[in-house]
Amino acid sequence: MIEAHVFCPLPQVLSSPLESGVIKKARDCNGLRVFVHDLHEFSPDRHRNIDDAPFGGGPGMVIRVDVIANALSKVFEMSPFLVREKLPVILLSPRGEKFDQEKAKELSRNKHFALICGRYEGIDERVREHFASFEISIGDYVLSGGELAALVILDAVSRLIPGVLGNYESLGEESFSGPCLEYPQFTRPSDFKGLKVPRVLLSGDHKRIREWRKTCAREITQKRRPDLLV
Ligand code: ADE
Repeated sequence: MIEAHVFCPLPQVLSSPLESGVIKKARDCNGLRVFVHDLHEFSPDRHRNIDDAPFGGGPGMVIRVDVIANALSKVFEMSPFLVREKLPVILLSPRGEKFDQEKAKELSRNKHFALICGRYEGIDERVREHFASFEISIGDYVLSGGELAALVILDAVSRLIPGVLGNYESLGEESFSGPCLEYPQFTRPSDFKGLKVPRVLLSGDHKRIREWRKTCAREITQKRRPDLLV
């Protein structure tokens, strides 16, 4: 069982995705527990503000370090036997290391992890320096907050939990689990208004089908993502 704590300013963004699809499945089979914490609950002031103007001036607001420190204490309150060093704290930001299948696998090996979602102009640098174990970006673009990034990570981790995917073996064949992208798939009808399925797939010759798929996967990877092959 993995326990994931998500700390964010807009918890409502997570509600529906956590109740659907693969994340719901992971939760239903007790492979994953997700605790969503509204950062406003950890504000030290009575207006529940979580941000303040940046020192030195400039536009926008910055999420406060004391709010994040308070928030993280909640995890240890809920799991008193958990030691700080055993909790990976992931800060979501476009400045982080790029998230990939390898990172999803690493995360899925933890019993607990915390995801901190930023918003506004940024987050006090002391969060990065003293509270985050590492920083992850889900791609080279700027989202208006980390909630969607947290969901991407939870989805990728959920499908790695044994028993969550119907056909667990299918993990072995999909894109990014090996060096190649996925081969093309077809299903009925075999002829849709003249658009035909490759004949080899209807041949019943499993050895030829395997070879055809391997060749296709290699060609597609070479064409679209040659960087994966080096
Ligand atoms: N927050 C804003 N942009 C982000 C990104 N690209 N990845 C992760 N968190 C983010």
